[in-house]
Amino acid sequence: MIKIFLLSAIAVCALAAEQHHSHDQTGDVITKPAAVDSTPGPVTVTPAGAVRGSWMDSRLGRRFQAYRGIRYAQPPVGELRFQPPVDMNTYTSEVDASEEGPGCPEPVDSTVYYVDEDCLRLNVYTPENNSSRKLPVIVFIHPGGYYSFSGRSDLFGPHYLLDRDVVLVVINYRLASLGFLSTGDSVAPGNNGFKDQVSALRWIQRNVAAFGGDPGQVTIAGCSAGSSSVVLHMISPMSKNLFHRGIAMSWSPMGKEPLPSHQLDLAQKQASFLDCPTNSSRAIVDCLKTKTWQEIGYSLNTFWDKYGFGFDPISFWTPVVEPDVGQHRFLSVQPDEAVRSGQFSAVPLLVSQTEDEFFWKAFYVTRNETLRDRMNAEWENIAPISFNLPEKNFAAASRRLKAVYLGGKPVEDTPERNKALGKLYGDSWIGLNAHRLANLMCRHSPQPVWYSVFSYIGNRSFYEDPVTGKPAGVAHHDDTIYVFSQSYLRPPIQARSPPPPAPQDHLMVERMTAIWYTFAKNGNPNPREGELPELSSLDWPVMNPEDRKYLKVDLEFSVHEKLHEKQLEVWDELYPMKF
Ligand SMILES: *[C@@H]1O[C@H](CO)[C@@H](O)[C@H](O)[C@H]1NC(C)=O
Ligand SMILES: *[C@@H]1O[C@H](CO)[C@@H](O)[C@H](O)[C@H]1NC(C)=O
Ligand SMILES: *[C@@H]1O[C@H](CO)[C@@H](O)[C@H](O)[C@H]1NC(C)=O
Ligand SMILES: *[C@@H]1O[C@H](CO)[C@@H](O)[C@H](O)[C@H]1NC(C)=O
Ligand SMILES: *[C@@H]1O[C@H](CO)[C@@H](O)[C@H](O)[C@H]1NC(C)=O
Repeated sequence: MIKIFLLSAIAVCALAAEQHHSHDQTGDVITKPAAVDSTPGPVTVTPAGAVRGSWMDSRLGRRFQAYRGIRYAQPPVGELRFQPPVDMNTYTSEVDASEEGPGCPEPVDSTVYYVDEDCLRLNVYTPENNSSRKLPVIVFIHPGGYYSFSGRSDLFGPHYLLDRDVVLVVINYRLASLGFLSTGDSVAPGNNGFKDQVSALRWIQRNVAAFGGDPGQVTIAGCSAGSSSVVLHMISPMSKNLFHRGIAMSWSPMGKEPLPSHQLDLAQKQASFLDCPTNSSRAIVDCLKTKTWQEIGYSLNTFWDKYGFGFDPISFWTPVVEPDVGQHRFLSVQPDEAVRSGQFSAVPLLVSQTEDEFFWKAFYVTRNETLRDRMNAEWENIAPISFNLPEKNFAAASRRLKAVYLGGKPVEDTPERNKALGKLYGDSWIGLNAHRLANLMCRHSPQPVWYSVFSYIGNRSFYEDPVTGKPAGVAHHDDTIYVFSQSYLRPPIQARSPPPPAPQDHLMVERMTAIWYTFAKNGNPNPREGELPELSSLDWPVMNPEDRKYLKVDLEFSVHEKLHEKQLEVWDELYPMKF
């Protein structure tokens, strides 16, 4: 059932088997708090009711409070499946938030990794129990192409950020068909996964003060699908006034073409996998409601088996610009148009990408004879799947991209061709969208934008070479390794040296968490005079439309201009977008 290396579902699935192994190496810090602790957990009384949590210890040994698996909306089950979320305003009895809740359904063995349809949960972590001191709040929206990962503490854990004076909230939202089904009509107008996130942001406004957080100082941060979500909250009228700064790591909804108004084709495909009728949206949804969440969640891989090329495309789901069918719309305009016309919630914004993003996707093609031969033989038909190309003029665009990236040559397992193909994967999915976001925002937002590329290769990565077991580049998601503990995937980065991991990785945690902290607190990633010595060498200029400066984050910080602009020119030629 489990398809290894299906982007990031990979991370969740493939590494399940390694879990015990990594516990052995872990030693302490991260595994300990998860163990049963007989000390009674702390209780926070929120406007919604009392919540009982547990204690955890940060990377540097600070004790903090953890409240996990709190429902922020009604369970989206039964009649509520495929419906927008219903806010949870009060709890009838004390909420037991002392243990981890489920992630949303995805193709994992739920006895190994706990997922359930009743997944509209969030985790709150706070170092504070003095309600007169209010800390900045960071809300993290997890990555995973809208179909994988979760906000659980074993994937995006608090142990690094909670060494800073912040309240951290990590949220789940519904995934894949259960979260993003859209039929273009009133049956399922779409974007429910984003509406879930809005519901969570509203819960935070109502309740975070009780945890010591300042509801007037909320930073929304996300990576990949979470990054795109952050940008959409800036556009959506529904999310207005629910946040005050943004961190958008490696993606945006500003791509090659306007967003669609529905993905009825995906709904029909999902229906057909489960022997449901496909001839009307009502019939599709009524039938899918009779299926178990396992049947829907576990059938995800069929999309790739039937309609993909290997593990491409990286994602099937996209946000939709909802038709007006009387519902509360999350998105009613094209994101780039909203930014150009100033119709958005302007907040201080960090935009970034990693140095190599999806470079590793090349290996799965060129080192598999079947895929390699097919890509070469049918380039014009495969390129649109692999590089997410619009339908219009796809053959000519495919040829042009091959000429520019590969010098017109076939794909092949050589360092040079792999690099070229990997760049094409990275630019087509992530690089172009990050570039367009940063460039639009720095021209039209009245608030500052800081742009960066994460170029540090540490000891661990979301892509490790199968032979050497070592990182081979700076992969998509690699920047999250220095912000969040990821006990499901790797041992913690310890505060003290060595081995493993390297003290350098420790320095990177210090820097990344300091940047997030100072940005959440002051709306500026540069520290104030005399604060945060770990950032003493940081002098990160605001991006402006003239010289377009950006920061390169590596062992040293350095400032450069015009990130990847030359290599992205071909995309502007093929799919022009006005800044
Ligand atoms: C909370 O308050 C108690 C007593 O005032 C104190 O001992 C404890 O360290 C505080 N910190 C946390 C994280 O709860
Ligand atoms: C709570 O915070 C306020 C403001 O920072 C401080 O004056 C007060 O002493 C603190 N109380 C406790 C019990 O720590
Ligand atoms: C859909 O197909 C079913 C069975 O094939 C048929 O009974 C029904 O009338 C069709 N509905 C529409 C809207 O075409
Ligand atoms: C090559 O890719 C095909 C198609 O995805 C797959 O079925 C096959 O198992 C792969 N072969 C190897 C050796 O991984
Ligand atoms: C990886 O860890 C080893 C020690 O285990 C260290 O010597 C080496 O410098 C580290 N590499 C990086 C890139 O941090």
